[in-house]
Amino acid sequence: MTTTPRAVVLVSGSGSNLQAIIDAAASKQFELDISLVISNVPNVKGLERARDHGIATQVVDHRDFTTREEFDQQLKSHIETVKPDLIVLAGFMRILTADFVEHYQDRLINIHPSLLPKFPGRDTHQRAIDAEEQWHGASVHFVVPEVDAGPVIDQGRLRLNESESANELQARVLKIEHVIYPLAVKWFAQQKLTIKNDLVLLDGEQSTLQLQTFDY
Ligand code: GRF
Repeated sequence: MTTTPRAVVLVSGSGSNLQAIIDAAASKQFELDISLVISNVPNVKGLERARDHGIATQVVDHRDFTTREEFDQQLKSHIETVKPDLIVLAGFMRILTADFVEHYQDRLINIHPSLLPKFPGRDTHQRAIDAEEQWHGASVHFVVPEVDAGPVIDQGRLRLNESESANELQARVLKIEHVIYPLAVKWFAQQKLTIKNDLVLLDGEQSTLQLQTFDY
């Protein structure tokens, strides 16, 4: 890794997780150069957040491509201009091809709003409510070709409240995301993470810091 690790962040919307990572990096808790933010949707708030912090931006609109392969190829060519150590998917709502994912193996991370391996896919909050789960939360994980799978870096959980709506639950989980994603990025930037037998180790071992309980 270079002395100051470089990251590219991919967004599709609001970019509140991007903001949390920008803020953490700006606080100088760790060294990270967020070199480029790419969105597959034009004019989203995530791009504005990047520009407000002087970060270069790029739009690669998926509607301009007929195949996923072509889209991913274009994405890759922009990513490669900064030769990043880390690629962060932050609310990026496109499924990436296996070729792309394999190319960036072990340096491509994502956040998913569930306690993986529970509830991959969409509508996680409603599904957790319907399943009468005791706990729900979010997971940061290394990306593998299978969607919403891959070695988990860290998770944050909270107890479901009785009769709360999916929207209320989503808002509570989003607050967790804003803590656990910057933390995972920090560990990556500090080169504290290793993957062994599909498990992510922190400083060489499994740590209690990788599962936090919140009372938001
Ligand atoms: C988050 O809930 C994330 O887990 C999901 O999409 C949402 C993105 O939020 N994948 P934001 O764009 O970071 O505000």
